[in-house]
Amino acid sequence: MTITPYGSLRSHGAGTLRLDDVDTEVALAGWVATRRDHGGVAFLDLRDRSGLVQVVADPEVSAALEAAHRVRTEWVVRVTGTVRARPEGMVNDKLATGQIEVAAHDIEVLSEAATPPFPVEDTIEVSEELRLAHRYVDLRRPRMAEILTLRSRATSVIRRVMEEHGFLDVETPMLTRATPEGARDFLVPSRLQPGESYALPQSPQLFKQLLMVAGVERYYQIARCFRDENLRADRQPEFTQLDVELSFGDQEDVLGITEEVLVAAWRETLGVEVATPFPRLTYAEAMARFGSDKPDLRIDGLELADLDAVFADTEVGVFKGVLASGGSVVALALPGGGSLTRKRFDDLVEWAKRRGAKGLAWGVVEDGGTLRSPLSKFMSDAEVAGLIQTTGAVPGDAVFFGAGPTSFARELMGALRNHLAAEHDLIGEGFAFCWVVDAPMFEPVEDRGEAVGTTAWTPVHHPFTAPTSEWIDGFEQAPGEARSNAYDVVCNGYELGGGSIRIHDREVQARVFRFLGISDEVAEERFGFLLRGLSHGAPPHGGIALGLDRLVMLLADATSIRDVIAFPKTQSGSCPLTDAPAPYEPTALRDVGLRLLPAPAAG
Ligand code: AMO
Ligand code: AMP
Repeated sequence: MTITPYGSLRSHGAGTLRLDDVDTEVALAGWVATRRDHGGVAFLDLRDRSGLVQVVADPEVSAALEAAHRVRTEWVVRVTGTVRARPEGMVNDKLATGQIEVAAHDIEVLSEAATPPFPVEDTIEVSEELRLAHRYVDLRRPRMAEILTLRSRATSVIRRVMEEHGFLDVETPMLTRATPEGARDFLVPSRLQPGESYALPQSPQLFKQLLMVAGVERYYQIARCFRDENLRADRQPEFTQLDVELSFGDQEDVLGITEEVLVAAWRETLGVEVATPFPRLTYAEAMARFGSDKPDLRIDGLELADLDAVFADTEVGVFKGVLASGGSVVALALPGGGSLTRKRFDDLVEWAKRRGAKGLAWGVVEDGGTLRSPLSKFMSDAEVAGLIQTTGAVPGDAVFFGAGPTSFARELMGALRNHLAAEHDLIGEGFAFCWVVDAPMFEPVEDRGEAVGTTAWTPVHHPFTAPTSEWIDGFEQAPGEARSNAYDVVCNGYELGGGSIRIHDREVQARVFRFLGISDEVAEERFGFLLRGLSHGAPPHGGIALGLDRLVMLLADATSIRDVIAFPKTQSGSCPLTDAPAPYEPTALRDVGLRLLPAPAAG
């Protein structure tokens, strides 16, 4: 059997024809992108996945001309004809097929189409709701078709690299038990066991660890994950990970394979050479210098400075109070920021307040090393000299100060760094990858806002992450200081992926659960299968998961995750195409033994 590249109805792809094909008889099929009917002669632009070609129906072939009069945009037609060079002056340099056209012998209508809800063009101004409701039309737009192609190429490169390194593609269940990754679970009620439910996996985390116990040694999966969390531009309730786990290796093995996958993906889709090894920052360094665990290293400089020592004996009220309660004063210098207007400074103060800050102090460094600032009358000369030295500010620069609980102040100033860089055009071109390593095991629940157990501490990564060797025996005694073998890969300020070396000792795992306030009974109930697995010969293992949607977003230079998913959900988690989620069918509820509560009152 021969398999034709374009299907038996066609001889060529519309977008593949060139001058070399002149005089060739071709059969094409696709969608009518545009029709220009001049009565005596009609032009159709025919579009298929390979591109666009101009078809001419002229009076010599009356059947073709008649059909061309009848067709409308987005109808599906089959055209047979002869390729000919376009007459002089009619060449279109913007089109890959712009030097030729196809003189139609026959035009057959394969399918009529309703008037499209919006033009199939890249530059359209319609609501995303309408685009998603008619996604089958939206995806015909060249940009969307290009992104789908890019995504497919990226996954195929990823698979190849993983297979080259001996990783086995293993599928893990979708109907399963809760896998805590810090979000709510999507639940699926069980009919066969009324009153019970499955959870859709937040990630394959526990299964991939059990695959290591099973001796798979190197696993990967392009896995769908489900998380019921509030959505943002880079989050979907259902998304895809490149999920990886390996045995008998360490952090270097995981970082190495990840870099290789990313380098190959960038090279083979964009032709961009990404330099390796990626720079590494410790978590502490990333927070101190950039106020973020996902710093955007395209921004040159604009690093934060810690002014706790400078203001140790200050009379500036807000700083004094904050330092006395154990907080920090964090500063950021904006080169040339002295030219900002008073209104701009006020706007930035409002910006900070909207993010929950009590205020944002600022000053401008003047010639002679003085500071023009609403706070300068409270600052000593030594403080001004100290802050200029610590921030590296020179005359003409603005300096901003955020005071508050240390992690809050750093994150505020980190966000200000991104905000100022965007507004002042200080974000460089290209792709800046880095690793953020050496994360703490735990952080206070109040900083993270979500708890895994019942104590005041929650894991920074997840509760299966191993402490570094020096902390295995003592993490309970100094939970805020204990380090873990966790790492994140960051690109252009996005967290592209994260992973860790895992706990492979059942007793250490049980201690982490206990420390988090998960009692032995609850741990047995929720994670008994993992603990039992760990007691049956668990090899040392670790891994990572990359957000595939985010990876494709970066490759495609897309600003919304929805643009890189064929059928995404809106910000409110619905699908305008299918109208999911849909009301329960009463019989379906009865089958699974559920009854609905009255709908919660609006508001
Ligand atoms: P984590 O929760 O950090 O780790 O997820 C890994 C990566 O998945 C992507 N991601 C998302 N992408 C789109 N929408 C979402 N709602 C969403 N949530 C996460 C991010 C993130 O970096 N099991 C661990 C990995 C491991 O330890 O091996 C895990 O899932 O790019
Ligand atoms: P206030 O004493 O609240 O009037 O604030 C005096 C100045 O300090 C104003 O410019 C505030 O914006 C600023 N400010 C107040 N709280 C903070 C804070 N936590 N961090 C930095 N600046 C602050």
